[in-house]
Amino acid sequence: MAKQTIFPARAISGALSVPGDKSISHRYAILAALAEGRSEIHNFSPAADCRSTLECLRRLGVSVDIEKDRVCIHGKGLRGLKAPKKKLDAENSGTTMRLLAGVLAGQSFASTLTGDASLRRRPMRRVMEPLAQMGARIRARDAQFAPLEITGAALNAIDYSLPVPSAQVKSAILLAGLFAPGETSVSEPVRTRDHTELALAEFGADVRTSGGNVRVAGGPRLEGRQLAVPGDISSAVFFLAAALILPGSNLLITGCGLNPTRTAILDVLATMGAPISLVNVEMHHGELSGDVAICHAPLAGGVISGPLVAQLIDELPMLAALGPFTEQGMEIRDARELRVKESDRIAALAENLRRMGAKVEEFPDGLKVKGKSAGKLRGAKVDPRGDHRIAMACAVAALGAEGPSVIRDAACAAVSFPNFFTTLDQLLAR
Ligand code: S3P
Repeated sequence: MAKQTIFPARAISGALSVPGDKSISHRYAILAALAEGRSEIHNFSPAADCRSTLECLRRLGVSVDIEKDRVCIHGKGLRGLKAPKKKLDAENSGTTMRLLAGVLAGQSFASTLTGDASLRRRPMRRVMEPLAQMGARIRARDAQFAPLEITGAALNAIDYSLPVPSAQVKSAILLAGLFAPGETSVSEPVRTRDHTELALAEFGADVRTSGGNVRVAGGPRLEGRQLAVPGDISSAVFFLAAALILPGSNLLITGCGLNPTRTAILDVLATMGAPISLVNVEMHHGELSGDVAICHAPLAGGVISGPLVAQLIDELPMLAALGPFTEQGMEIRDARELRVKESDRIAALAENLRRMGAKVEEFPDGLKVKGKSAGKLRGAKVDPRGDHRIAMACAVAALGAEGPSVIRDAACAAVSFPNFFTTLDQLLAR
């Protein structure tokens, strides 16, 4: 699929489920590989990113069987990974690279983690520094970019305060902590997603969270598990936004992850006027999930800044693209991190929303998108710069534009949501 044409739509209605959560799938796969015995993971994410993690685990000698959305992993135990014969390719996945860096730092063999052109431009020093404090030996291109050459070393426990809120960095340190005698702890300035902590507990590690601090004990015996992954709220957001843009919409997203460290997006949308209700809320393996109902309503818009940014990091592209459909417009600040994601998301959003006729002001740490008074969007050629979330956010905005839009290189959506365009198409009324 080289490009995708998006025609304006009248409404989006019906029920859908979104793919299994990407963040949780990575963590379950990695911990299953380090556990003893077999793990069976249901509703495993079909995202290309999670496939990258599974392929890396295979190269480390782990047997992985994939049957539709069920993944069986035959764990090797904490010390059972094998030296890979080839480089480990994380492709587009920052989570794969940073989490595996934590695991590989404590092995008795050398390995190299690489990725695609986008991942090879993303900052790795944030993970290299704490791991080096633990005794890891990691060499990087220009001392900060992948490929990462990891020699493998005996690690020591540390107490680390994260300078930048990042669940990936926190997770890398906690995973490395499994290989360090004693207790490793990480403190975070803002609470980020806690899937690693919950998954570690589920597999039997000794992990404790108190306030903004997480501690894990080294050398646990992890045990294989039967697990089910809830739907990915960061994928659901595109459908929530479509329902808010298109009058007459009424949607139900079933089995969606509702972990409180991920639901800031629901609070923000509700504060802006979105009628959202949650039903059938359940807890499995420490993770909340449930059905999310939404219907169309006018949106106020507003400013997103400060600590909220870290809790909404993956939803910011969609929030920015909602700007032209709101009364006051959307302003996002304190979000410099968006410049070092799969693309420079601030620049990519500003460029593509302007192409659609939006009035956008760009700042080093964010952007301001004018609301409805600046006029209706018009169909345009969108270049998502190979970034899945930019492709999907612009496609949703295009549903509410005048005239068709063409999303270039739309296949990049598969990085998190392989069936995004067909799922969308099935629910739209034109
Ligand atoms: C993720 C953490 C976030 C997020 C990414 C997934 C994770 O990245 O943007 O999509 O699974 O831990 P950072 O840790 O860089 O904030």
